[in-house]
Amino acid sequence: MAKKVTKIGVLTSGGDAPGMNAAIRAVVRTALYHDVEVYGILRGYSGMVENDMIKMDSKSVSKIIQLGGTVLKTARCKEFYEPEGRAKAYNNLKKHGIDGLVVIGGDGSFKGAQQFSNEFDIPCIGLPGTIDKDIAGTDFTIGFDTAVNTAVEAIDKIRDTMEAHNRLFVVEVMGRDAGYIALHSGMATGAENILIPERKANLPELIQSLSQAEKNKKYVNLIVVTEGDEYGGADGISNYLRLSLPGADIRTAILGHIQRGGSPTANDRIIASRMGYHAVQCLLEGRYNVMVGIVNDEMRYTPLDKAVKAKQSINDEWLQIVEALH
Ligand code: F6P
Repeated sequence: MAKKVTKIGVLTSGGDAPGMNAAIRAVVRTALYHDVEVYGILRGYSGMVENDMIKMDSKSVSKIIQLGGTVLKTARCKEFYEPEGRAKAYNNLKKHGIDGLVVIGGDGSFKGAQQFSNEFDIPCIGLPGTIDKDIAGTDFTIGFDTAVNTAVEAIDKIRDTMEAHNRLFVVEVMGRDAGYIALHSGMATGAENILIPERKANLPELIQSLSQAEKNKKYVNLIVVTEGDEYGGADGISNYLRLSLPGADIRTAILGHIQRGGSPTANDRIIASRMGYHAVQCLLEGRYNVMVGIVNDEMRYTPLDKAVKAKQSINDEWLQIVEALH
């Protein structure tokens, strides 16, 4: 029988994602609902290593459900990846009597959580908080929907000016080495081409189709590319296109960190609330060291090591649709 968790720590780690605040709120309020104390750990694992933690009450998470960023701040903490750093972190948790952790972050954060729970008697629950959606065991990650909607809003605006000037535009979106933001935002904006790291782009074929489009007097072409694409994102692709299509009027736009900010969509707030609630339930019910996800609208619990190793696969059907509709 697992030891009962009596005090929970919650932190956000890695790149921030819209909806993290809604998840923090859900963790804090659910813990308090069960009369369990809860501490907010500041700046991700750095707050654990440096003993920077604050006791949370219901009011400390008031009016944050609609806010982007994270009220607990976030960081990528190098020290935590060393055994000495984790030992310090453990001692600091013990000082506060914290015996269960909720980690809101991406796969790097889960690796840290898994390592920590292997070494010390502190169960960890992961909540997938990343705009990249590059984690297995959940249909959506907290922040992805907002990031896609932000990208769509920006790309729609780019299309207006692109159409006015008969231009070819290469728009780079975030996602690191995962193409989901590109795939979703590209489909939603009717992009003529979407380039993602998961599929090797056939550049000669792309050039041929763009030349053919030019011959047919279709000058407007929107290419959405993931930053981690093998050809070097928007700059790499546009340099290549300029060499092969000297007549084309080519511009690039790198959307960058605007995709990480802003008020979370209703969907991100809802999944964050559901996941945050179930993270605490897991700790109270002895379901330890899992990531809480949602698959087909049902809660899914994936051991942290599986959530970190695997990626969701790109659905071929999506690529066929993009090809047919462009
Ligand atoms: O993982 C989220 C993410 O926004 C990626 O899409 C991007 O590659 C990276 O973080 C950027 O990180 P930083 O904010 O450290 O520049």
